[in-house]
Amino acid sequence: MGTQRILSGMRPTGKLHLGHYTGALENWVEQQNLLAEDGTRVYDTCFLIADYHNLTTSLETGEIYQNSLDMLIDWLAAGIDPEKSPLFRQSQVKEHTELFLLFAMLITSSRLERNPTLKEQVRDLNMESLTYGHLGYTVLQAADILLYKGNVVPVGEDQLPHVEITREIARRFNNLYPHPLDGNVFPEPVPKITKFARLVGLDGKAKMSKSLGNTILLSDGPDEVLKKMRTAVTDTRKIRKNDPGHPEICTVFSYHKKFSDREQLRSIEEDCRTGSLGCVDCKKLCAANISEEIAPLIEKRRYFEARMDLVKSILLEGEIKARVIAGNTMQEVRTAMKLGETPGTKNL
Ligand code: TRP
Repeated sequence: MGTQRILSGMRPTGKLHLGHYTGALENWVEQQNLLAEDGTRVYDTCFLIADYHNLTTSLETGEIYQNSLDMLIDWLAAGIDPEKSPLFRQSQVKEHTELFLLFAMLITSSRLERNPTLKEQVRDLNMESLTYGHLGYTVLQAADILLYKGNVVPVGEDQLPHVEITREIARRFNNLYPHPLDGNVFPEPVPKITKFARLVGLDGKAKMSKSLGNTILLSDGPDEVLKKMRTAVTDTRKIRKNDPGHPEICTVFSYHKKFSDREQLRSIEEDCRTGSLGCVDCKKLCAANISEEIAPLIEKRRYFEARMDLVKSILLEGEIKARVIAGNTMQEVRTAMKLGETPGTKNL
């Protein structure tokens, strides 16, 4: 078995927040840099900007390009290395739409309607009805993953239903259209979840999300982080500084778990429970630790922001590489499906 491929992606909603970082990005960087004993990389990594997916929830396209660049800068700032990982926009590799169409035939609409992540999105955004394209959200995602024959998909927990459906589509395709030479055209990809798969929002809601307005951005400076942290919901029963608190239900404590070291975590927990640590001080500590963690990212962001030509060329080069991989896969798909068999064309 050759090197396993990792394929993951994000929708370009602009600058990324801590939830993106802990839920996925941090994991991407780790997998990208993972080395086997012989010094070779364990995974071959590809990361996509899912700009078509944005159309499922908004037809406003004016900001997609800028948002894509902003997101790309966050990826680079976090340590994604374009030499190792091709970075590309879905809309610039036409094979995504081709494979999407074929996959749309392999899955029922009722299966797609049962997808809990889709339902949650429709509910969160107060959408009254679903477009045909939005119902096909996962089908497009399956095409994203399988075009690159992704074996492993590092994503946040909310993406699990999408990966499950991707597996079903891959299985169905492989059963229907075995490749004449290699057996299966597609792998059945497995998800890879981080420990902090979901970071709660500042308002205590289940997740950080731009549309819910409860995020801390990876590009927020220390003052901004502190300002936002002040709004974070804590244990509502801890009213006065010295009231005993319940860290297990506190948003800020959940951030401490991720951003503070073990020693500190232990004393924060104890001091909160006994009432010797007030929420204001606890938040200051938390904000400082977060800022410390993202300081190198902010620094690198500045570097790339001053070199937008470099950023754009990274994207264009990634897209050239992606088109080669995607083109090869579509060739195999057509062969397996016996599509495009015309007189004079050499077919297997
Ligand atoms: N649905 C993903 C999200 O909302 C984005 C995405 C699109 C994706 N295509 C993908 C993730 C392929 C992993 C693999 O974040």
